[in-house]
Amino acid sequence: MKIGFFDSGLGGLLIMKAVVKHIPAYDYEYYGDTKHLPYGEKTEEEIYAFTKAGVEHLFEKDCALVVIACNTASAETLRRLQDEFLPVHYPERKILGVIIPVVEEVVASHCKRVLMFATQRTVSSGKYHLELGKRNELETKIEAVATPDLVPLIENGNITAANAIAQTLIDERLEKGVGVDGLILGCTHYTVLAEPLRKIYSTKIKIFSQTEIIPEKLQEYLEKHAEIEEELDTDMKRNVFLTEHREDYDQYLQTLLEGRFI
Ligand code: DGL
Repeated sequence: MKIGFFDSGLGGLLIMKAVVKHIPAYDYEYYGDTKHLPYGEKTEEEIYAFTKAGVEHLFEKDCALVVIACNTASAETLRRLQDEFLPVHYPERKILGVIIPVVEEVVASHCKRVLMFATQRTVSSGKYHLELGKRNELETKIEAVATPDLVPLIENGNITAANAIAQTLIDERLEKGVGVDGLILGCTHYTVLAEPLRKIYSTKIKIFSQTEIIPEKLQEYLEKHAEIEEELDTDMKRNVFLTEHREDYDQYLQTLLEGRFI
């Protein structure tokens, strides 16, 4: 069986690529819902229906567990899929999201004031705050900012412009004396900003990027869940399925993934 990755588009490939690099032996299957992106401005019901369809596809492709790499879909669908869909249709399989692993890292870091960039839907869902509240005695505060402009800029390879927007948002707070000591890149695409932002803010701000957090957390999960790990094939197969293909996706894959790896 395989490890599946679900995303609203291509951004989740960044997360899957980082996981593949970290634990390469397994077989991986990716589902990018390019036909319906962006999810960031869709309704909760639409996001649930699209995500469920993607997860079903991945289970039909023999995935033992599916990682919902999309923050927006994790925020709006994970609990419902785990509670309503999984027990009825695939009781032996697992669905994981990307929010709890990040919140665990934030709590472990003891950062006090964490800025988060995410889609409008992720921000309005309040899921990061909810999960933080369960684990943290009000020590850490998250300020969530919707940054929808960053996704198209990053998709078009304009990392410099996206970085400038992120920098402005951070600097505004620092200039006002708001002590930012952590930054959550709460959207698949934003993970490409981790390195450029680290060059500027170095030790002052701890940057939480899912390309760094998810590989470690998934490995830990597999070590703890032998019943899943033992089901996984280790033929190093990778497959990417997109619900709609556009010619410029090849360019995108080249830019962001430094070449296709499928
Ligand atoms: N992949 C989505 C996320 O991580 C962002 C793109 C979208 O709006 O679909 O939130």
